Amino acid sequence: MPIYRLYSHGLPLAGNTSTPIDSPTRPGYPAGVTSSFAPRIIRWQQRHGRHALPWQATRDPYRIWLSEVMLQQTQVATVIPYFERFVARFSNLPALAAAHEDAVLALWSGLGYYSRARNLHAAARAIVANHDGKFPAIPDAIAQLPGVGRSTAAAIAALAFGQPCAILDGNVKRVLARHGGIAGWSGEKKVETALWQLAESHLPRTAIEAYTQGMMDLGALVCTRSQPACSACPINTDCVAFTQHRTTELPTPRPKKILPEKKVQMLLLLDRGELMLEKRPSRGIWGGLWSLPELPSDSDPAALCHDRFGFTTLTLQVLPRFSHTFTHFRLHIQPIQVQLAPRQTTLPGQIWLPPADALNAALPTPVRKLVAQLERT
Ligand code: ADE
Repeated sequence: MPIYRLYSHGLPLAGNTSTPIDSPTRPGYPAGVTSSFAPRIIRWQQRHGRHALPWQATRDPYRIWLSEVMLQQTQVATVIPYFERFVARFSNLPALAAAHEDAVLALWSGLGYYSRARNLHAAARAIVANHDGKFPAIPDAIAQLPGVGRSTAAAIAALAFGQPCAILDGNVKRVLARHGGIAGWSGEKKVETALWQLAESHLPRTAIEAYTQGMMDLGALVCTRSQPACSACPINTDCVAFTQHRTTELPTPRPKKILPEKKVQMLLLLDRGELMLEKRPSRGIWGGLWSLPELPSDSDPAALCHDRFGFTTLTLQVLPRFSHTFTHFRLHIQPIQVQLAPRQTTLPGQIWLPPADALNAALPTPVRKLVAQLERT
């Protein structure tokens, strides 16, 4: 007598509301596939998945939330040192809530996507104000926090609170699109909906933590974007992409769009070994970060130094041009290094720092690149 599992959470697989989990042959699966999806993921995670990541040694929702936010759009190897520095400085949620935003941004400096840091800080304050400082355990409440979407909320609920929630980050989308043969770009609503349905349909009744980590690990380590290691995959026998030789075409990539281009000059203003940084307005690109003065590509830098700041320029050096790509445009940057005559004043919103110290501030990535170059010269 097979045991039947009811898909009580989320949408059932089309035309099949229950599936035997331990029958020797499973309806809808190729011959030889005797175990459903989740047990294979869980077993694989236990044997081959990652077990020593710094946020895995705990069920502290604060640390798990922090790691999940840092891991949005950023690779594990990049996140690890940032995570360790962050928890060394802010070891719990009240400490983060009490921090100054500048201190939070400085710890984020170099990780990119700075709205994540601002949202993290705002969320810590919201938890103190609205949840008595206790991290919410219900996925819908977690998803209300600034910077936390459905998948991040589900990952926190599963990993910190053992709740049976489906995740759907970029890696998991790739695994599910290949395994289920879901074509179409996941930015389209109907494709995303199909992937969420699949994610919900595969959830196990037990070991949600190993399953959730296993899906992430499989996407990161085996089911990679290019040259996936299909022979090492625990779900290859019934993977549509593998069995139909379609791993290069699935998942369907985002349609190519032509990015608008913008050009600016950036000024490295130097006075007696110190570099000037300006605080950007809190809204918009690089909001709240310390950056370099910018001017249109056809403006005269010496005239701007005089007219905007009242500075006298001694020498101007045109440095090599480079580009920085945002999600919605490409910025071509012409850096100009300017040696100034000793200044009389420092205006509000400006700081002057030796380049080595400036590297400790919250700088946008291309500005960090320029300051690091300057520091080496
Ligand atoms: N990517 C997103 N969350 C992750 C996690 N907990 N471990 C590894 N990679 C991840």
